[in-house]
Amino acid sequence: MMKSLRIRSFEEYKEKYALSVENPETFWGEIAENFTWKEKWDQVLDWNFDEPKINWFEGAKLNITENVLDRHLEKRGNKLALIWEPNDPKQRFIRYTYRELHELVCQFANVLKKKGVVKGDRVCIYLPMIPELTIAMLACARIGAVHSVIFAGFSANAIADRVNDAQAKLVITADGLNRGAKQIPLKRVVDEALESCPSVKEVIVYDSLAWMPNMVANRDSWWHELVDNESKVCEAEVMDAEDMLFILYTSGSTGNPKGVVHTCGGYMVYTAYTFQNVYQCDESDVYWSSADIGWITGHSYTVYGPLLTGATVLMFEGVPTFPDPGRFWQVIDKHSVNQFLTAPTALRSLMAHGEDHVLSYSLDSLKLLGTVGEPINDEAWKWYHLHVGKEKCAIVDNWWQTETGGIMISGLGNISPMKPTYAGFPLPGVQPVLLNQEGEEIQEADVEGYLCMKFPWPGMLRTTYGDHERCKATYFSQYKGYYFSGDGAKRDKNGMYRIIGRIDDVINVSGHRFGTAEIENAINTNSKVIESAVVGFPHPVKGQSIYAFVVCEKLPEDPIQARGAIVESVVSQIGKIALPEKIQFVTGLPKTRSGKIMRRILRKIAEGDISNLGDTSTLLDPLIVDEIVESAL
Ligand code: PRX
Repeated sequence: MMKSLRIRSFEEYKEKYALSVENPETFWGEIAENFTWKEKWDQVLDWNFDEPKINWFEGAKLNITENVLDRHLEKRGNKLALIWEPNDPKQRFIRYTYRELHELVCQFANVLKKKGVVKGDRVCIYLPMIPELTIAMLACARIGAVHSVIFAGFSANAIADRVNDAQAKLVITADGLNRGAKQIPLKRVVDEALESCPSVKEVIVYDSLAWMPNMVANRDSWWHELVDNESKVCEAEVMDAEDMLFILYTSGSTGNPKGVVHTCGGYMVYTAYTFQNVYQCDESDVYWSSADIGWITGHSYTVYGPLLTGATVLMFEGVPTFPDPGRFWQVIDKHSVNQFLTAPTALRSLMAHGEDHVLSYSLDSLKLLGTVGEPINDEAWKWYHLHVGKEKCAIVDNWWQTETGGIMISGLGNISPMKPTYAGFPLPGVQPVLLNQEGEEIQEADVEGYLCMKFPWPGMLRTTYGDHERCKATYFSQYKGYYFSGDGAKRDKNGMYRIIGRIDDVINVSGHRFGTAEIENAINTNSKVIESAVVGFPHPVKGQSIYAFVVCEKLPEDPIQARGAIVESVVSQIGKIALPEKIQFVTGLPKTRSGKIMRRILRKIAEGDISNLGDTSTLLDPLIVDEIVESAL
């Protein structure tokens, strides 16, 4: 563990926080000293939020995998790096020590090299939650290739969009995956996607389920055949601190998902530092985050953060309810997990099955619980604290985003004060502000505002791939001089933050982010659809759910069939994860005279709150609102 990085008390946190604000460069420079660099930096930070230009540790050279793996070999070579628990509890789990993981990563890195992948090339990874996913990511990083992991629930079209945007040369996938009782043919989805991806020359297929998928000649090869006889030694490519490490696509209010770019040096320092302090793992601890590596939490807090600090990480292939709703708790007891991180949506779905499942397990190895991805409601927080943590474990509520790279606001282990539904205090180095509509900083307590950052932190995004203007427009133009998060928040008199939720057109369904525009585009691919408007509405388990108002040439005679067709469009464009829960056919949408859809009204209708729809007089056709209300679902 990186002992010197670890904050031990709330007093120490306050000291470190003050230092990090007074002199950020000294603060981060000292933290960065704890890592292996091939060359040190000339300057800790060079930045402006106007372009934006964000350079951390400029001039420094490193390879992140030497920090994730090689650095630990001397002291922790035989320590477990990874414990993999399969979907089926009857199947054997797998364990790799740091030395074994190092060898596997080097071996696969050599495979990628032989396939012609060189520094800077983009590699898309569409794999199940199996150790090979971690190995593939680290192998890319080893040779300086940029990984772009695509969550294995996305459709062929969604894969194609990402692969084409990244202009990936190679794709890594598997025959199929197990998720609970379901099996999904990944290779088949990739084959369909690649019909429209001319940049991809090679596909490597991991044989996970012995399904014998179709292999395309001169393009597809088997992982196991390639690694056979491959050397387990691979020198690490020398990277600049600001060279790209990975791209991860995420949804925003407008257009297609954008490729958030993270770079080597800053991301390394930030994920390790935040992991060390938020999770406070001791050397012999086993840490588990249930998040899928297809999302940012898996990148930062299953792969990079924990392994950078030399922790033992558990990786789980399955789902919380398979074979029964006790699975999480069974896995915790089986592997004596000490720190456990999950999402509120998972907790709420388990709560719905009653306490018996959780009460059948001792859970006495647990020391700390984490929650991430969406606001946690009071009831779920209390259930987690009482039944899982047995009132002896602190809960750290981690607020952050794909764009922030690592945790920004959260408790630290069990040393910070806790307040249910509050994420807590900013981490050292993080300078949040709340802005009002006019862009002025709110100083008062308990007032809601737009959550922004006024100073850079090492883990922040540097650009959106291939479109720097988009990065500027999305995050740095709303309020000049600030990074705009898209979230609303409140701060209490002690300085603790409570996240309210998105204030833009982003919907958070079960902790997964979707832009309304993205779902509307998918619905509009249906030839019968003229236009649509999508909003989020509260859902007891998922946090938010998707409500679609759809205008067709004429109201469908068979709404069930028409709904099925819309569902089909969304499944094929994005994937099942973005399915609208409700689809209402309407003859028009509430629009202003300038043609803008008044989503505020649609949101209220979706919530079932029609008592006060506000001023509708500026609408082009106010009567349309009555019609929509009457046929609301
Ligand atoms: O709205 C916030 C919510 O999730 C958004 C970021 O989503 P994503 O980039 O997919 O990253 C999720 C995992 C870090 C944020 O803008 N969010 C994330 N964590 C929390 C949260 N909302 C409330 N509390 C949290 N702890």
